[in-house]
Parts: sequence; C-alpha cells; structure tokens
Amino acid sequence: MVLYLFGIILFYYNCAYICVTIIKNNNTMPLARFGVSLDEDILKALDGFVIENNFPNRSQAIRHLVEKNLVEKKWQCNHIVAGAVVMLYDHHKGDVSTKSGDIQHEYFDVILSSQHFHLSHDNCLEIVAVKGTANRLTELSDKLIGIKGIIHGKLVMSKAE
Ligand code: NI
Repeated sequence: MVLYLFGIILFYYNCAYICVTIIKNNNTMPLARFGVSLDEDILKALDGFVIENNFPNRSQAIRHLVEKNLVEKKWQCNHIVAGAVVMLYDHHKGDVSTKSGDIQHEYFDVILSSQHFHLSHDNCLEIVAVKGTANRLTELSDKLIGIKGIIHGKLVMSKAE
C-alpha cells in the first residue's frame, strides 16, 4: 500500500496550522462514482479549469477542488480576524434575502455592517463586513454561502489585531 503524505504548514498571520493529509493510492482506495448535474456555464468553467491546470480529466479537477476546500476549512482558530462575506444571488429564486437576514441576526455579535446592491433586474450583491474569531466567521460564512440560491459566495479574512 502506497501512501502519499502531504505535510502542509499553513501560516495564516498569527495562526499556524499543520495539516497532514494522507491520501491513499488510487489502487487501494475504492473509487465511488456519482452523477453530477451542472449548469452549462459551470461545466464550461470546469472544462476551462481542467485545461488551464493540465488535469487529465474532470474527475481529477473536482477532486482537487474538494480537497482544497477541505484544507481551507481547517483555517479555523480563535484569533480575531476581520473580513467580508460576499454573496451574489438572484432575488427571484428562493428566499435568499430572508434566510440571509435570519442567519445574520443569529450572528449579530460578529457583523459590523452589511450592504446590498441591486446589480441588475435579477441579481443582487450582498457584502457582509465581519469581525470575530476565525472559526465563528467561517461558521457564519458557511451558513450564508450554503443558502439555496446563492450563485457565488466567498469569505475573505484578514488579521484584525
Ligand atoms: Ni437586490
């Protein structure tokens, strides 16, 4: 059994993390197959990502993106950071505005302000400025970005003290 060890030392301002990911060789790790439904635009973007990064196929690219996301999840600590959650959504679809408001009230203690821009007839851009512990901000961001109907969402954090 061949194991690949990737020791990744992440320095995130004052926070230092050591994340060791052990990925077993494909020959020993059973592969699971599943179907994915994507909008044509997203599929086109995925194919562009595959070409730009020289991935042999879409599966490898998706695996890379999932693993990257899992590592970033570990960028959580109790240091005080500040940043913003940026969300883009179509306000006709679902009730993103209401859900976003409910979640923001739950986390009022770490929200500095929020701004809503009506980008077009359909699309809204919402920017939520935040300050608090990295793990609480990550938790808030995961909830906001996870709202059904969010087209794009991202949390940006930076050292605050
Ligand atoms: Ni709007």
